[in-house]
Amino acid sequence: MDVREMKRAAAARAIEYVEDGMVVGLGTGSTAAEFVDLLGAKVRDGLKITGVPTSEATLVQALGLGIPMATIDEQPEIDLTIDGADELDRNLRLVKGGGGSLLREKIVASGSAQMVIIADQSKLVDTLGAFPLPIEVVQFGLAVTRAMIEDIADELGLEGPVKQRMLADGKPFVTDGGNFIMDCAFERIEDPEALAELLPFTPGVIDHGLFIGLADQAIVAGDSGVQVFDADVEPTEV
Ligand code: A5P
Repeated sequence: MDVREMKRAAAARAIEYVEDGMVVGLGTGSTAAEFVDLLGAKVRDGLKITGVPTSEATLVQALGLGIPMATIDEQPEIDLTIDGADELDRNLRLVKGGGGSLLREKIVASGSAQMVIIADQSKLVDTLGAFPLPIEVVQFGLAVTRAMIEDIADELGLEGPVKQRMLADGKPFVTDGGNFIMDCAFERIEDPEALAELLPFTPGVIDHGLFIGLADQAIVAGDSGVQVFDADVEPTEV
């Protein structure tokens, strides 16, 4: 299987979690897009669900496939959210936000009774951090916010550049919510809980891409097939 096929295989397994009548949170990114595509086919076959998007891009894709959509304010009680991740460990701690949708993704995940992550095997890591951690920050006072993030990193012994995300044309990347992203290349985040606890104390930080205690299951597709990890089941070495 190539990476695209792995994403598709994980998405196909996730479709099995969807039941008629559910409100389904729809994630963002290339893996989530595979799921939305398969869900569109199910809806065309008669499945009745309502989708809640985690980004403008997902909303456009879902509407294009004929999936009935609602805002999170219209449907604040979400039965199930299916989303991708930039990294996950075997305790189902995640790094998300590579596509810049972390805030909406976290709000939708937090409002969901169940969250299932879908990923290809390259996303499964022993220690989070090789993928730079995205932090969504307000535009005002960027230099102060960056310095405060660096102070927190120092306190936790984390090293690596904290860089503003820029587009290819040299303009800053702006999230759906109108904010900037700082990408923190810490390489190894040994204590994600401690970092997740400290970051919100910085006034300019809106949210960060550490998702801890939110995912219930993770479906990881690889060369040897599809593995399902459950947050309530002690991880075993694979
Ligand atoms: C979007 O902001 C992210 O959180 C995505 O869920 C994450 O980047 C995974 O995307 P891919 O499936 O494209 O790797």
